[in-house]
Amino acid sequence: MVDLLQLEKQFLLAHLREGDIAVDYTMGNGNDTLFLSRTVGPRGHVYAFDIQEAALRSTRARLTEAGAPENYTLIQASHHLVRQYVCEQVKAGVFNLGYLPGSGNKALTTLRETTLPAVEAAVDLLAPDGILLVAVYPGHEEGRLEGEMLAAYFATLNRYRLCASCFRILNSPTSPYFYLVEKKAEDAVSVQKAQSGPKGGKREVGDKKNREKRGKAELPRQTSAPQVPEPCERGKGVGV
Ligand SMILES: C[S@@+](CC[C@H](N)C(=O)[O-])C[C@H]1O[C@@H](n2cnc3c(N)ncnc32)[C@H](O)[C@@H]1O
Repeated sequence: MVDLLQLEKQFLLAHLREGDIAVDYTMGNGNDTLFLSRTVGPRGHVYAFDIQEAALRSTRARLTEAGAPENYTLIQASHHLVRQYVCEQVKAGVFNLGYLPGSGNKALTTLRETTLPAVEAAVDLLAPDGILLVAVYPGHEEGRLEGEMLAAYFATLNRYRLCASCFRILNSPTSPYFYLVEKKAEDAVSVQKAQSGPKGGKREVGDKKNREKRGKAELPRQTSAPQVPEPCERGKGVGV
């Protein structure tokens, strides 16, 4: 049987190395933060985001209890503001969409209007050979819609620079599934450029044509405009 959690880890471990930078965009109870922290080790760094103070408390306790290296910055802010806090290119990013497990507060779930700019920023921040993993929970309505929205966005990405894929159990449509975005290493991009020549039909990530292809129907209706991130200022308002 396919074990999606194991599969997620295998993909992350194929890209993430000791000393790398990683981001947990939805820290929750810190399980992914702990995995990333152990993988990058004391020479690496993990930035973890959540909007709930309870998540930061729970994650800090989890990391301390597990004896994780002190290589993390826990940030109480929405993930779409990532550029205010993370200046480096990121080797691995993880989104585990939905609500905080065990909190009883399902209202504080991830929402399309902030998930989309956060995922777009996360793709832009990827280092060469970097990986972004987004786990989706279609068992609740917002989760289902987030998944559809992301499929439409990922389909627009420049295939010469990024590979976007989806891992889903087809005969269990409400089970969680995940998307992967893998950024090609720089030399692979140069080889493809040389092979495809001037008429290769290449487009840059997020260029105008691609944005138009995404189509208005799939985009979330903005109830209130998400804050536009300031340029990154390292250390600003970081941590607890
Ligand atoms: C499914 S949980 C994550 C579980 C986590 N990966 C773990 O290992 O426990 C989703 C988390 O996303 C958080 N969240 C919701 N909206 C957010 C936002 N805009 N920015 C950052 N985190 C958000 C929720 O508070 C919740 O803790």
